[in-house]
Amino acid sequence: MADQPADQPAAQPAALEGVLRILQINEAHICGHMLQLAAELGIADLLAAGPRDAAGLAADTGSDPDALHRLLRFLAGQGIFTEDDAGRFSLTPTGDCLRSDHPQSLLDLLRWSTVVSRTFQDARYSLRTGLPAFPEAFGQPLFEYLRDHPEVGGHFNGAMAGFSRLESAAVTGAYDFSGARVVVDVAGGDGTLLADLLKAHPAAEGVLMEQPHVVVGAARRFEAEGLSARCRVVSGDFFDEIPAAGDLYILKSIIHDWADDDALRILTACRRAMAPGSRLLLIESVVPPGNTPGEAKLRDVVMLTLLGGRERTREEYAQLLGKAGLRLGQVVATRSPLQILEAVPSD
Ligand SMILES: C[S@@+](CC[C@H](N)C(=O)[O-])C[C@H]1O[C@@H](n2cnc3c(N)ncnc32)[C@H](O)[C@@H]1O
Repeated sequence: MADQPADQPAAQPAALEGVLRILQINEAHICGHMLQLAAELGIADLLAAGPRDAAGLAADTGSDPDALHRLLRFLAGQGIFTEDDAGRFSLTPTGDCLRSDHPQSLLDLLRWSTVVSRTFQDARYSLRTGLPAFPEAFGQPLFEYLRDHPEVGGHFNGAMAGFSRLESAAVTGAYDFSGARVVVDVAGGDGTLLADLLKAHPAAEGVLMEQPHVVVGAARRFEAEGLSARCRVVSGDFFDEIPAAGDLYILKSIIHDWADDDALRILTACRRAMAPGSRLLLIESVVPPGNTPGEAKLRDVVMLTLLGGRERTREEYAQLLGKAGLRLGQVVATRSPLQILEAVPSD
């Protein structure tokens, strides 16, 4: 065996713990794929009425009985289902969240995740160019694709609503919204966050601005929740014009979708809409310093690959806001991976 060159330290044998960690990270995508497949087949809805065996489920889903049994057995090992001695599968409380009618349903989020998984097969393109891989994989930029493919668009909107349901209580509980008279949620998706805010603050009014094909779902939600009288829906393009009615503006999970030039265009449109006393809240996962692990660093590579966007550090947000004529004030932590960055006009 050749001697180690004098100027290179000898490689240390990796600790078993480190080796196992690498294997675990590497195999995580397989668990995700299996979960997404179960969501795609609608297994949780098929189990809602009670336990069933793999043969019956296979007949209902056009699957091979043995292959489906192996998928369900794997997911039972992950705590999604349980298998009894007669080979019948039931939902666990965790697996219940895959039902379409569960109040915290994650079904759309998992269906949307199959699109994310396919995009990541082209992630090498993003690495080479710094540009999003989504148009390479699907032939169109993400938001155009969602507009032209309503079924996938529905899964995306449902996935965003799923995140918002998880995050909404953390956001509304962390910041004092009591002084706001008119809250404008810019690109507020299906209105999940704004509806929760209006319910918590009966004197406040809301404006939800979204793309024309998304705004329809939000209007339906406000109608169903008895909020239509206090909430206006406006269709529009946040690169052009943002409604001028508000004293509190919200951009939740918006700025991270875009690279700096486009992010600045949105912030500048927002600044134009704001009166001198208005406030803007960016609700985002702020990238922590150093090697601290964090959801923001995962979302950051997802934003790169899907949209060419990015998660940012606190300083990067302060700089971007400054260029749009806004000054970053307090940054409020929430009980979720999100932080609330408050900004006001700088002049
Ligand atoms: C990541 S989602 C966030 C939705 C919502 N704020 C939330 O947190 O659940 C981004 C949203 O931006 C909207 N959007 C994309 N381009 C837009 C544009 N040019 N004008 C207005 N909204 C747009 C999309 O329809 C989508 O709902």
